[in-house]
Amino acid sequence: MTFSVEQINALAIDYAEKDPKDLISLALQAFGKLAISFSGAEDVILIELATKVARQLDKPVHVFTLDTGRLHPETYQFIDRVRQHYNLTIDILSPDTVALEAFVREKGLFSFYQTDHHECCGIRKIEPLKRKLATLDAWITGQRRDQSPGTRNQVPVIEQDPTFGKDKALVKFNPLANWTSKQVWDYIRMFDVPYNPLHDRGFISIGCEPCTRPVGPGQHEREGRWWWEEATAKECGLHRGNVIASDGD
Ligand code: ADX
Ligand code: SF4
Repeated sequence: MTFSVEQINALAIDYAEKDPKDLISLALQAFGKLAISFSGAEDVILIELATKVARQLDKPVHVFTLDTGRLHPETYQFIDRVRQHYNLTIDILSPDTVALEAFVREKGLFSFYQTDHHECCGIRKIEPLKRKLATLDAWITGQRRDQSPGTRNQVPVIEQDPTFGKDKALVKFNPLANWTSKQVWDYIRMFDVPYNPLHDRGFISIGCEPCTRPVGPGQHEREGRWWWEEATAKECGLHRGNVIASDGD
């Protein structure tokens, strides 16, 4: 099914206050070429919710993970645990080897500490993501407004994804946009959802190992990501629309 920008905006208004399960249900019913992007963190809740909804609707659940090659060992183990726990196929996507090898040959394995994370994220995350999104009509992410006051405070529950401009209509569902971290964790505990053990060791937001660290009391979760950069730069480009929105465009 294809939606115009106006239809997506209208749906975003209709569903603004709805439960994450209602959004996932809409996504599963409206789009065949749909997948959940799973980072190996607390967004596992998307898989928990989607498998419950999909069972009722008799629909398949598709999940993909961007394997940057730099995730924590615990995250790799957790992704595989999730695969087995939910009896799922997870598409594990790798970066283009030619681009990656040229990049690390020229700049080494830690160039992001000297410059910024954009070139590395571009090769390890954005290019594989674009390759995947080219095959989809819609995707589901675990973005929430409370994850980043600088860049995510306006994340809508449904949006037109600008990744391919006018060349391809792509819809992005953010079913957890309105949920707080506490709501997510209450749900995880209540329903015994498996979670990444790094969360028990002070990690709140989890990305790649060299670019993620635990946060201390009172620190915002986003401070544990790319901590050497400005708060407004803390988007790797997976969610380009957030940066456009926070620039006021
Ligand atoms: S990021 O842009 O800063 O890396 P974040 O870690 O907050 O994103 O995660 C927000 C959502 O982006 C996740 O819930 C997931 O949907 C998607 N995402 C982030 N990293 C990955 C990844 N490695 N693989 C798949 N999806 C990801
Ligand atoms: Fe590279 Fe860090 Fe981005 Fe991972 S988060 S792709 S290691 S810059």
